[in-house]
Amino acid sequence: MEVEVPWFFTCTVLVSLFYLFFRLVIKPKLWCNCEICSAYLTLSWSKQFHNLCDWYTHLLKNSPSKTIHIHVLSSTITANPENVEYMLKTNFHNFPKGKPFSMILGDFLGRGIFNVDGDPWMFQKNMASLELGKLPIRCYAFDIINCEIKTRLIPLLSSFAQGKQVKEERVLDLQEVFRRVSFEIICWFSFGIDPRCLELSLPMSKFSTAFDLASKLSAERAMNVSPLVWKIKRALNLGSEKELKRAIQIIDVLAKEVIRRRRKMGFSTGNDLLSRFMSTINDETYLRDIIISFILAGRDTVASGLTSLFWLLAKHPNVVSAVKQEADRVIGENKDLTSYEQIKQLHYLQATVYESMRLYPPIQFDSKFCRDDDRLPDGSLLKRGTRVTYHPYAMGRMEEIWGTDCLEFKPERWLEHDGVFSPENPFKYPIFQAGFRICLGKEMALLELKMVALALLRRLQIELVTPPHRQPRFSPGLTATFSGGLPVLVWPLET
Ligand code: HEM
Repeated sequence: MEVEVPWFFTCTVLVSLFYLFFRLVIKPKLWCNCEICSAYLTLSWSKQFHNLCDWYTHLLKNSPSKTIHIHVLSSTITANPENVEYMLKTNFHNFPKGKPFSMILGDFLGRGIFNVDGDPWMFQKNMASLELGKLPIRCYAFDIINCEIKTRLIPLLSSFAQGKQVKEERVLDLQEVFRRVSFEIICWFSFGIDPRCLELSLPMSKFSTAFDLASKLSAERAMNVSPLVWKIKRALNLGSEKELKRAIQIIDVLAKEVIRRRRKMGFSTGNDLLSRFMSTINDETYLRDIIISFILAGRDTVASGLTSLFWLLAKHPNVVSAVKQEADRVIGENKDLTSYEQIKQLHYLQATVYESMRLYPPIQFDSKFCRDDDRLPDGSLLKRGTRVTYHPYAMGRMEEIWGTDCLEFKPERWLEHDGVFSPENPFKYPIFQAGFRICLGKEMALLELKMVALALLRRLQIELVTPPHRQPRFSPGLTATFSGGLPVLVWPLET
């Protein structure tokens, strides 16, 4: 390690200098000294903002078109719903994920659904939609989530709540608990396998860490001024690229074991997604890629949604009371949920979950590449190859979309006068994306968020350890992650 550090720095500095020289001297018109680009390059934005997404939000709020350009990254960022609709639906074919994106995530996600366009995307989408679109799948999902909550989540939290006397020992990282739970649920649901039955040489926590690291390091590749930086580091197996390679090797062990186990159990009659894919695909690497994408889709996003939901709820006891009152009315006091139909009647709970993700979307921004020169509805001109990003995190904070109380956590904004939940235009609220590539697991995700939230709120009292006014800081990654986790104290509720 002592030998590698100077190498890694020398290399990065040399590549960056070469790149700056290239931009300044050889292609001077590509260089930009505008305020935004300078703040990006010098990191001066970080003096005022904790998170990059907060700085972008500030810039987008102040832009009359709600679109900004970061010239040094060839990047356009928008919080304008008309632009979002144009990219995701009207002119969808001109805004694929593109090669630069799939290269950045290629080592981690391979040819999995998140990382491909065209035929491979269509094939995986069709296969997955056939399964996820079926009505019985919701009842199947309900049973899996219910079982996980009753047999694992509640016993774990209850034993924690009761077992420890010293206050410090009762601190629990709720984000980590949610990751574990959502990982188990997505494995059961997508692969028909209880991950606790896998025969693995490492503890599950190691795979979890490897997943987080691969997601973080892959996302960080996109923050380099030039892809040359990470490509050279990868070729020389240095620094973060060496770490990424190691993390991916660990993840591969997990994927291989999932495939082995599914083969052993048989897949011709399985109801799960993996069995469906295995009945048409023999290519082991392709199956690995599909598995990784589904774990990523279902683990980190749901855990992120739950973490910010509980962070907000801990600061809004009035919302907690309203959720519990509705549940007592619909399900009955001290009675448990019994069916998928019952949860559909919990409108206030649904509004709470939507409102929480409006302010804290699990996927804060999402990028596409412009295939041919184009013009967005707000008049922004796009050159071929521009990275175009829509920004749900900033969109949730736009007065023009949500009104002057946009920064307040108010589930009521989603309810009609009769208390019935009313959804928003998905291009104003692209939390699950929208248009042709809308999230295929949306219903499953909402079900999981609502069931876990309800089960905990009705049984436990949860208190934040960090001061409630402190705003979250996010770690770099593909999904929003609270840096430092969500430390809480839990107590059983007095009945
Ligand atoms: C709160 C939880 C979730 C959120 C916020 C969310 C959000 C999203 C978003 C923004 C995308 C578009 C990503 C992109 O194209 O770059 C997406 C795609 C996708 N999601 Fe989700 N997701 C969630 C949970 C899930 C779950 C639980 C599953 C699986 C059961 C799932 C399956 C998928 C799949 C397969 C795609 C790819 C769709 C395509 O490219 O056609 N998601 N999701």
